[in-house]
Amino acid sequence: MSEKQAKFRSDYRAPDFSISTVELTFYLDPHHTRVHNRMQVHPQRQQQPLCLDGEQLKLLEVSINGELLDANDYQVDAQQLVLTKVPEQAFELEVVTEIDPANNTALEGLYQTNGSFCTQCEAEGFRRITYYLDRPDVLAIFTTTIYADQQQYPYLLSNGNPQASGTTAAGQQWVTWHDPFPKPAYLFALVAGNFELLEDHFTTRSGKQVLLQLFVDPGNLARAHYAMQALKNSMVWDEQRFGLEYDLDIYMIVAVDFFNMGAMENKGLNVFNSRYVLADAATATDQDFLNVESVIGHEYFHNWTGNRITCRDWFQLSLKEGLTVFRDQEFSSDLGSRAVNRIQAIRVMRSHQFNEDASPMAHPIRPDKVIEMNNFYTVTVYNKGAEVIRMLHTLLGETGFQAGMQCYIERHDGQAVTCDDFIAAMAAANQRDLTRFKNWYSQAGTPVVRVTENYTPASAQAAGQLRLTFAQHTPATPGQTSKQPVHIPVLLSAYSSRGERLNLTHPELQLHESGSYLFELTEATAELTITGLQQRPILALLENFSAPVRLEYNQSFADKAVLLGSAEQEVTRWEAAQQMYLDLLTAAVAKDGLVSLPPEVSQALQELLAAPLDPALKALALTPPAAEELAEHYPQDIPLALIGVACEQLKRAIAAALAEQLATWWQQQQGQPYELTAEAIAQRSLTHLAAYYLALNEPEAFNSEISQAFSHADNMTSQQALLQIATHLELACASDLLEQFELRWQHDPLVLDKWFAVQASAPVAGTVARVAELVDHPRFNRNNPNRVYALLATFSRNLLAFHQADGAGYQVVASMIRYLNGKNPQVAARLITPFTQWRRFDKQRQKLLLGHLQELQQLPNLAPDLAEKISSSLAPDMQA
Ligand code: TRP
Ligand code: ZN
Repeated sequence: MSEKQAKFRSDYRAPDFSISTVELTFYLDPHHTRVHNRMQVHPQRQQQPLCLDGEQLKLLEVSINGELLDANDYQVDAQQLVLTKVPEQAFELEVVTEIDPANNTALEGLYQTNGSFCTQCEAEGFRRITYYLDRPDVLAIFTTTIYADQQQYPYLLSNGNPQASGTTAAGQQWVTWHDPFPKPAYLFALVAGNFELLEDHFTTRSGKQVLLQLFVDPGNLARAHYAMQALKNSMVWDEQRFGLEYDLDIYMIVAVDFFNMGAMENKGLNVFNSRYVLADAATATDQDFLNVESVIGHEYFHNWTGNRITCRDWFQLSLKEGLTVFRDQEFSSDLGSRAVNRIQAIRVMRSHQFNEDASPMAHPIRPDKVIEMNNFYTVTVYNKGAEVIRMLHTLLGETGFQAGMQCYIERHDGQAVTCDDFIAAMAAANQRDLTRFKNWYSQAGTPVVRVTENYTPASAQAAGQLRLTFAQHTPATPGQTSKQPVHIPVLLSAYSSRGERLNLTHPELQLHESGSYLFELTEATAELTITGLQQRPILALLENFSAPVRLEYNQSFADKAVLLGSAEQEVTRWEAAQQMYLDLLTAAVAKDGLVSLPPEVSQALQELLAAPLDPALKALALTPPAAEELAEHYPQDIPLALIGVACEQLKRAIAAALAEQLATWWQQQQGQPYELTAEAIAQRSLTHLAAYYLALNEPEAFNSEISQAFSHADNMTSQQALLQIATHLELACASDLLEQFELRWQHDPLVLDKWFAVQASAPVAGTVARVAELVDHPRFNRNNPNRVYALLATFSRNLLAFHQADGAGYQVVASMIRYLNGKNPQVAARLITPFTQWRRFDKQRQKLLLGHLQELQQLPNLAPDLAEKISSSLAPDMQA
């Protein structure tokens, strides 16, 4: 197989041809689907060959202006159809191909899922349907006609509005759809199948009637209502907060079981992984409900940020994804708890994105070099991308940011543009120079900000003064050895030792709309001398995680306790607790792993638990960083065993210090009726944390409480949480609960995924062996991405189990990767990530991990997805 060539951002060239309209006709059949594709093609430069992308296609016919070409007029290979001589004026090109959806296990292009047909075209899947200019800067108007058996496929769907339909003499049904908005091929979608349909309506603020349709597999209709409500909430929110209205007469969502990712924003016809649509109290946890809301929002918000304004090339992916993640985070924050949402986003950054930024696959949010585009749908492009947008929002304020959005939309509606275009619109609307800020787009790696302070107390002659110095640097990453300073918004506030807010006066400290002060660090170093102080200020720095950086700053437990007890912002209080935990954990790892809580820490935690605060915030603040996040602090030779001991020890210490208060809360919460309200969700999160700590503290005494609560649980949140406690703490009831759960839910794939995941995430000695067994469980299906992620991606994130010293954990995952290489490379490539970080472990583990990488590299048909990740991880350190 020819090796796939790298593409570079700097090589961008506008297309030689444009395509104004595309008329597609599909004759659907599981193994022999025929696709007729008639395009109006417009040469943009003279005498260029027309190179159409196409993969895994059987070419049947090509004609130009109605004349059939013969085989000498074109060349076909595994990637392209090349027409060397084409008319100089606009012409009509028709291509007929045949494809085999039933054997499409990669789930890219047209494939089958539970007997229905569906498509996934982002990033480069359309070329598996027909020959085309499969790049996001070719925008065309699509008209799609679908023919299929009426009995088997009663619903035939595509983008835009339905235009005509009928039946043929042979008992086939046909429907024609027309999408008036020019779009790139990656937004094309087709779905055909037998579904249950939930319908609703929405009236936009300018009075346009929109039909809303949600399609689910038969039997799942009752689980679709929450998603429909989330869609309506999204539509209202985008009008109110961003002034953006929906533009077609119909909005459809289809839920499918076989899907590589979360969901897809195809114009007017979203396709969703069923796990982000189906939700009811019996089968979905509180977190599942919140995830449904956020993914429904995300895909809906893409209609403007992604579809109406799209990406010029795939290096610009963060243009739509970073911005749309920012928008979905704001949506969830406006509808639910802003602090809880923010904390969850911060945790994703620290436990996953920082990791990626320190890995061989580190890349800027706007990558410079790509082999397989599917490898760049990453936490860096999505979540760090959203943090970069959030920094702009912090720097410009809500009003300035919205003015920038308006300018962006006025300038670029209907176009395919770049991240630079977005920044230019933000800069223009606010008359700001964002040149330095743009380094966030070009540089990989997590900047480190070191802050030191020097306080001179007040004397008889003068008030006190605080000298603050800031220094930033970004570590080298593969292919980028020297870095420029970035523009870092530092939100901060100051408190007295009694927890009162202190005013700080300095020309470089602006009072920010968040309530904090804003300091803009734009150079490698900066110094601020703050005068007029009556007492030593206790600083809360980088409040709300105002930039995606690592902060290095020394602060005593006593000062952190003040912030934990008194800071105005909930995120700041949570952060103070996290920093306490990290200090304790790193100190413990540096010696024997043993932890005891200093009295000021126990007291601060007890006071927090007693304070009149949101129970969800308490639960988050009482949860120390997981082993995976702690490991982040060790660039090499990660001391796995000590990390394991320290994390366990800290949890035991917290459990002991809070036992009485937690027992009271647990008792009070018994018999609470299930409700799906923000308040009830928050209470449940603290209740389940309490149960965890109580069982950790006294496993024998609490065993029967857990198993009884499990049998009375009338909702999935409690069932899942109790099952997890029993399994992870190896309570006496664990195997019984696992059996009950399996028996009850074996016919429900999404629920059974939780059963797999609970076992795969257990931080216990038996996990590796158990996972190896579960791969052969009759209900485990390695062709279904959700099952694979639930068992094996979950397992590979279980630091201590996956890295079991004998390498048995590596073995299980590597053999799944080997299988998936030939079936679904996108999923295989996601599983290989933990192997690529081999350099961070001890010699013994390095050898084992490396052995698997080298073995996989030898696979005869190594997919480009895997090849790219393996070769970057084997390259000498810091080379691209
Ligand atoms: N654009 C999708 C989103 O962010 C992502 C996506 C869905 C995707 N399916 C995919 C990306 C398949 C690559 C391949 O919502
Ligand atoms: Zn997206």
